[in-house]
Amino acid sequence: MGIYSKPVVFAVLSAVVILIGTIVTVFIPLFMPSTQPVSPFIKPYTAIELEGRDIYIREGCNNCHTQTVRPLRTEVLRYGEYSKPEEFAYDRPFLWGSRRTGPDLNRIGGKYSDSWHYRHMHSPQGMFEKSNMPPYGWLAGNALDTRHSFRKISVLEYGYSKKEVAQQIADYKAKVTAPDYDSRETRDQVTPEKLRSELTEMDAIIAYMQKLGRDVKNLETTK
Ligand code: HEC
Repeated sequence: MGIYSKPVVFAVLSAVVILIGTIVTVFIPLFMPSTQPVSPFIKPYTAIELEGRDIYIREGCNNCHTQTVRPLRTEVLRYGEYSKPEEFAYDRPFLWGSRRTGPDLNRIGGKYSDSWHYRHMHSPQGMFEKSNMPPYGWLAGNALDTRHSFRKISVLEYGYSKKEVAQQIADYKAKVTAPDYDSRETRDQVTPEKLRSELTEMDAIIAYMQKLGRDVKNLETTK
């Protein structure tokens, strides 16, 4: 009968075989660089984009919006180039989502102006009468809390120094409060007067929207 009449030897040998299988299919790929592709074109989120991403999570935008374009003809025609694994290298956690009450947002960066976003976030129904997206105008009434931005960036290992983080915050503030900012008029309309010279949560979420898929679009233009 051989091995079939020796239950202990059989159990030990099957355990060894399963263990080898597990190591080969799980642990080796875990440390293989080819399963974790990185692209020099995909840049980590800046402090403001990361704050915007946190607000996106806090507000549960991912319950209505996905962030992944599938490689299907209809999706590529509607949203643009399908999503690649390396795009999500800095997404912790992933926000791929599974419900599309609203459209996919993986290629939203650069699709509209900041001004469009201020208006849309303030009142989706003002732009699309039948939109069932809730208005988020009140985000412009909340000053952006950047006290923990550097700590978050360090924990996520994005590699920016404290000075760079402070610079990113200062630069973005300078951008949106500059007199010649191209979306200034709409920003002023939706932002309460006392916060017009500060960064608001609305500014951050729009910075995040403009980042989504932007690196891939830049990559395509350099091809
Ligand atoms: C209840 C579901 C729902 C929630 C929650 C929601 N949205 Fe939407 N969103 C929609 C729908 C539906 C549309 C399409 C109609 C429109 O543009 O208003 C949309 C459209 C959009 C668009 C325009 C997309 C395009 O390609 O035209 C953006 C940007 C957007 N949402 C961002 C957000 C953000 C950011 C949040 C969270 C703060 C959010 N949405 C929360 C349902 C939702």
